[in-house]
Amino acid sequence: MVVAYHRPTKAIIDTTAITENIKNEIAHLPSETFLFAVVKANGYGHGAVQTAQAAKEGGAVGFCVATIDEAIELREAGINEPLLILGVVNVHDIPLLAEYDFSFPVASMDWLVEADTYLKENPIKTSLKVHVKVDTGMGRIGFLTPEEVRQAVLWLEDHPSFDWEGIFTHFSTADQADTTYWETQHQRFKEVLTVLPYLPTYIHTGNSATSLWHKEAVGNMVRFGIAMYGLNPSGHTLKEPFSLKPALSLVSELIQVKLLEKGAGIGYGETYITPRQEWIGTVPIGYADGWLRKMQGFSILVEGEPCEIVGRVCMDQLMIRLPRAFAVGTTVTLIGENHGKRITMQDVADQLETIHYEVACTLSARVPREYKS
Ligand SMILES: Cc1ncc(COP(=O)(O)O)c(C=O)c1O
Repeated sequence: MVVAYHRPTKAIIDTTAITENIKNEIAHLPSETFLFAVVKANGYGHGAVQTAQAAKEGGAVGFCVATIDEAIELREAGINEPLLILGVVNVHDIPLLAEYDFSFPVASMDWLVEADTYLKENPIKTSLKVHVKVDTGMGRIGFLTPEEVRQAVLWLEDHPSFDWEGIFTHFSTADQADTTYWETQHQRFKEVLTVLPYLPTYIHTGNSATSLWHKEAVGNMVRFGIAMYGLNPSGHTLKEPFSLKPALSLVSELIQVKLLEKGAGIGYGETYITPRQEWIGTVPIGYADGWLRKMQGFSILVEGEPCEIVGRVCMDQLMIRLPRAFAVGTTVTLIGENHGKRITMQDVADQLETIHYEVACTLSARVPREYKS
């Protein structure tokens, strides 16, 4: 993928905001809780390595990613802390997991049996660090009953190629005001803990939402994701217990400014026709950058003035209606602050009728990430 460095469109990541969010979260957590920063999906679009380094400065002692490849990227960049892969891995990748000293989830007995067969033919010198995943009601991956978990743990005890390092679950409604289902899942997890012969090093249930709003959650580790980037996991629903500082701004510049007469068509499909003489500016960002067509009608900032996106968003460019003539080269802010006015990632998510997680992850690799600290 080519990164478009020779274009004024870029995402600016304030790494000090990430460090500060992590520090504030650690102060909020019960003492002696391990904070693992979740930097999967390229650090939710913010850049995995750079955000991991900023999180480490704030006190993160480990990192979570979704895939083996994401974990390799971090190790190769010199991140030597514990790395936990959150998704199910392929048994054929066991040599990689051992070589790079990754931790990973075990979610079924079938997987363990398959891994055992593989290991008999392909022995390894070290032991594999595993976290037993319990499905308490997310319906995604994990063992379902306390007895299944107990059997898996006993099996691990009998197999020295495995080091039982952790146990965890994931809540599906931790960001909601109604806590009923969260409590059901929490209770199921607590029941699982009671049938185990002993407890492993890491017990974790908390994503950002759980760690912010459910202090009663059992465990000694959190998997802290979206909030480290300064975004409220609940969107508009719950108030964050301490202020979160957004790390990402998205900016570009006007590349053309023109005065169009009444009746001029703008963009593909001529979906906007100037109702009067209007100043129209062109901005080099489009849906191939992750700024989707549904953003038509949304206003972005030029010198603090909200300027509506008129006509369809193109693949690489969009057009805005300007209140007056601005110079070519004037900064355009799509997310972030401009002359005292602000557009949040939540505003963009509202326009797209989605969540800010998706907005951050959708920003494409073509948009350069610039780091400011
Ligand atoms: C298993 C697991 N843990 C933790 C997280 C981090 O969640 P959040 O970004 O809401 O903190 C995720 C994110 O999707 C996840 O899948």
